[in-house]
Amino acid sequence: MSQHLLLPLVILAPSPTQEEPEDLDCGRSEPSARIMGGSDAQAGTWPWQVSLSQKGNHICGGSLIAPSWVLSAAHCFVKNGTLDPAAEWSVLLGVHSQDWPLDDAQVRAVAAILVPDNYSRVELGADLALLRLASPARLGPAVRPVCLPRSSHRFAPGTACWATGWGDVQEADPLPLPWVLQEVELRLLGEAACQCLYSRPGPFNLTFQLLPGMLCAGYREGRRDTCQGDSGGPLVCEEGSRWFQAGITSFGFGCGRRNRPGVFTAVASYEAWIREQVMGSEPGPAFPTQSRQPQSGPREAPDENCTIALPECGKATRPGAWPWEAQVMVPGSRPCHGALVSESWVLAPASCFLDSDRSPRYLDNWRVLLPSRPRAEQVARLVPHENASWDDASDLALLQLRVPVNLSVAPRPVCLPQPEHYFLPGSRCRLGRWGRGGEQGPGAERGGVAEGPTPPQRGFAPSSFSEPAPRPSTLLEAELLGGWWCHCLYGRQGASVPPPRDPPHALCPAYQEEEEEAGGCWNDSSWSLLCREEGTWFLAGIRNLSSGCLRPRAFFPLQTHGPWISHVTRGAYLEDQLAWDWGPEGEETKIQSCPPATEHGACGLRPEPAPMGVLWPWLAEVHVAGDQVCTGILVAPGWVLAATHCVLRRGSTTVPYIEVYLGRAGASPLPQGHPVSRLVISIRLPRHLGLQPPLALLELSSRVKPSPSALPICLHPGGIPLGASCWVLGWKDPQDRVPVAAAVSILTPRLCHCLYQGILPPGTLCVLYAEGQEDRCEVTSAPPLLCQTEGGSWVLVGLAVRGSRELFAAIGPEEAWISQTVEEAHFLPPSGSSYWPPEGSDLCPPDTARASGTPRAAVFLLLLTSLIQG
Ligand SMILES: *[C@@H]1O[C@H](CO)[C@@H](O)[C@H](O)[C@H]1NC(C)=O
Ligand SMILES: *[C@@H]1O[C@H](CO)[C@@H](O)[C@H](O)[C@H]1NC(C)=O
Ligand SMILES: *[C@@H]1O[C@H](CO)[C@@H](O)[C@H](O)[C@H]1NC(C)=O
Ligand SMILES: *[C@@H]1O[C@H](CO)[C@@H](O)[C@H](O)[C@H]1NC(C)=O
Ligand SMILES: *[C@@H]1O[C@H](CO)[C@@H](O)[C@H](O)[C@H]1NC(C)=O
Ligand SMILES: *[C@@H]1O[C@H](CO)[C@@H](O)[C@H](O)[C@H]1NC(C)=O
Ligand SMILES: *[C@@H]1O[C@H](CO)[C@@H](O)[C@H](O)[C@H]1NC(C)=O
Ligand SMILES: *[C@@H]1O[C@H](CO)[C@@H](O)[C@H](O)[C@H]1NC(C)=O
Repeated sequence: MSQHLLLPLVILAPSPTQEEPEDLDCGRSEPSARIMGGSDAQAGTWPWQVSLSQKGNHICGGSLIAPSWVLSAAHCFVKNGTLDPAAEWSVLLGVHSQDWPLDDAQVRAVAAILVPDNYSRVELGADLALLRLASPARLGPAVRPVCLPRSSHRFAPGTACWATGWGDVQEADPLPLPWVLQEVELRLLGEAACQCLYSRPGPFNLTFQLLPGMLCAGYREGRRDTCQGDSGGPLVCEEGSRWFQAGITSFGFGCGRRNRPGVFTAVASYEAWIREQVMGSEPGPAFPTQSRQPQSGPREAPDENCTIALPECGKATRPGAWPWEAQVMVPGSRPCHGALVSESWVLAPASCFLDSDRSPRYLDNWRVLLPSRPRAEQVARLVPHENASWDDASDLALLQLRVPVNLSVAPRPVCLPQPEHYFLPGSRCRLGRWGRGGEQGPGAERGGVAEGPTPPQRGFAPSSFSEPAPRPSTLLEAELLGGWWCHCLYGRQGASVPPPRDPPHALCPAYQEEEEEAGGCWNDSSWSLLCREEGTWFLAGIRNLSSGCLRPRAFFPLQTHGPWISHVTRGAYLEDQLAWDWGPEGEETKIQSCPPATEHGACGLRPEPAPMGVLWPWLAEVHVAGDQVCTGILVAPGWVLAATHCVLRRGSTTVPYIEVYLGRAGASPLPQGHPVSRLVISIRLPRHLGLQPPLALLELSSRVKPSPSALPICLHPGGIPLGASCWVLGWKDPQDRVPVAAAVSILTPRLCHCLYQGILPPGTLCVLYAEGQEDRCEVTSAPPLLCQTEGGSWVLVGLAVRGSRELFAAIGPEEAWISQTVEEAHFLPPSGSSYWPPEGSDLCPPDTARASGTPRAAVFLLLLTSLIQG
């Protein structure tokens, strides 16, 4: 809004023609003049607006209703159930800009603050306060009272009213200097229409019950609203030639969010309370009669209709045809891919421009290509993120277009997440182009468009860009992995995982990549991560170049940059979370921390939810000589542990042809799985005297990269991890090889020894299956025994001995051999590793050997006799 000089003063005349004896003329402002999304007000337009300061700082707004009375909101003065002392507060009247020398302003001390007895919290209503000034204000053109509505006064829904204040211009974005009073036009919303909006879960999944004495004003689509610091200020509506205060700014859910209009205290409801408080003051506030009742009728009805606003951003006709895709053309360099985030702003990596001469002269030659635009857009301004040069996570710049574009199907901005956004694990995502990369990315090899490095000239031939060739690369599908997996994969041992609503450190999507041998490390590619909620696309992350060869790739979350982007752009489409369907037992209730890590990432992490059906990333299929198939366990990127009897024929010393598959879940793998196969180039056995050692290490022809379908397990040095729960993991059928896990408990060595007297090699573990679980796994493939520790990571405890479901060769005794052979194998620290009690005599009660029936019955008997013996 343009600034004008002060308009001629209007002399106040007494108004003897009033129908009722009113001792005060109210609600008059400069005759010519006719926050968030608002604009500078003209001086003198809102002469009742006051600023309320506590110890010298502007805290709230208020309105002058009589020379000695100011109306404001209770919550400005009541903290933690206690009313502030009036002496801490002062009232500034007749100010426009709070920065200028406040020569014309009047300052008044506060003699008393009055708050309704039953005010407790804003959301329970009665959020109003009266301030009695220590001395009356001098009325004049810049200081005048507003009219108050009587309790019978009705403001029609749909009426355009105005809210004013010096509050934040956006969430967490204070009004900049020179602190000029802001005004914003807000439409009154009917009670039913407002309740309809607040009944739908919004930010933080909150719903809200509107109470009598509250009113709503704003817009379904949001974007224009009051915000922090506006509280207590007036919402005024013009009737006849007077301004009536319909509301007191009370609260909102965020500021300017979609379907979350501002909530105001309905002043009319509190006529009686106000009159009672000011009784005896001369002159008191004016409550003129309403000149005419608002017309009810067709204008009002649609407002009571329960319609909600849908997001204006993030809609794409089909994935990959991104209507926000922007290409920034800088003379002398390859095009840089970014995203349209508002009518006027494009977000792109700052690294595209850091080496450019950024003087405005150069920007003249820059162009931005947007979908469905006939011409390339000119660039007015480049705003790099202040930390872009040293922080990869802040490698962002905003480019302002010289002329805002009309938003339609295309171009259309992408939605940006609020800082507290929690992308649910399992969210459907895609990779989008970002920055200058692409040629060496995973998709480009499948026929992505290659932009030439030819520097664009002034006056492009638009036709060469308006019909982009199909880009299969931008269709790369991805599924978001759980925060725990993502946070811990990169090895922050013991670190606690940020809970939902705290910005994550990284976002990990699982996606199908080129077979790894083809592309090598993916370090030169630049991609953004787009995630969909309720059909709306969010720009969720940008690539983390430093994540090296680890998979899944980590993306820097964009949500931490929401405040910066909205501060610069004043109108980027920050959108609330749209999907909330995680259960009460969900991830948010657990405090999670990371397991120990190797330098190649953490071990024993199982992605949750299981991406694309691969549940056990360390479970390998070991195909021996094209014939037998055994289970194997990935213990390091180049090593699989298997049962010797499975991979070597008894007495044989020749290494058979062995192939290992990871990332398979059954003989008919899931279409989106990412199977990895390797040949075995050597078999290592520990040196045991006499007996064939039970465990064999298989060396793979090349390392596998950590991924949700291939990640090493942790190993346990002995005993059983404290508090762990254990499973035998195998196949029910060696033909279809669908993994099944059977819950077991591990018996103490003594019980084990008694049960299988005399027949066990040292270091053998025995397990007891949970009821009905015995038959879940077949035995010929030598299923492994796994436990999940209290910390959540999975450890390998043993491998089944030949032909047994209950007996397992323990990993612990082979720790030295495994560690020597496979440096990267990760044994958990032994601390607290065993709950086995010290063993007393090795006297076994009679009749506990296998002969006495099923092992279950034998164990029961054994436990019983142990108890009896004390
Ligand atoms: C708020 O009140 C509670 C109990 O009345 C008290 O424990 C707490 O310290 C108070 N907080 C502040 C900030 O005054
Ligand atoms: C406060 O009391 C007044 C008068 O008794 C009543 O009209 C109003 O509804 C009450 N408000 C709340 C929030 O309890
Ligand atoms: C969100 O709110 C809906 C309806 O109130 C409820 O059913 C759902 O459980 C809530 N979700 C969460 C995560 O609180
Ligand atoms: C509510 O909106 C729908 C669609 O806009 C319209 O068909 C219907 O007549 C409206 N109802 C009322 C009561 O205005
Ligand atoms: C830049 O980095 C500093 C130091 O880490 C941080 O305090 C500041 O908030 C960052 N700036 C932005 C815009 O994020
Ligand atoms: C935007 O659309 C409006 C009307 O829909 C039109 O008047 C205006 O010229 C358009 N502006 C641009 C820059 O295309
Ligand atoms: C990836 O990065 C590594 C180390 O930064 C480098 O040695 C390697 O050549 C890069 N690979 C490609 C394909 O750019
Ligand atoms: C991302 O990059 C930073 C350095 O910029 C690095 O410290 C970090 O480990 C990388 N990975 C994740 C998951 O943040």
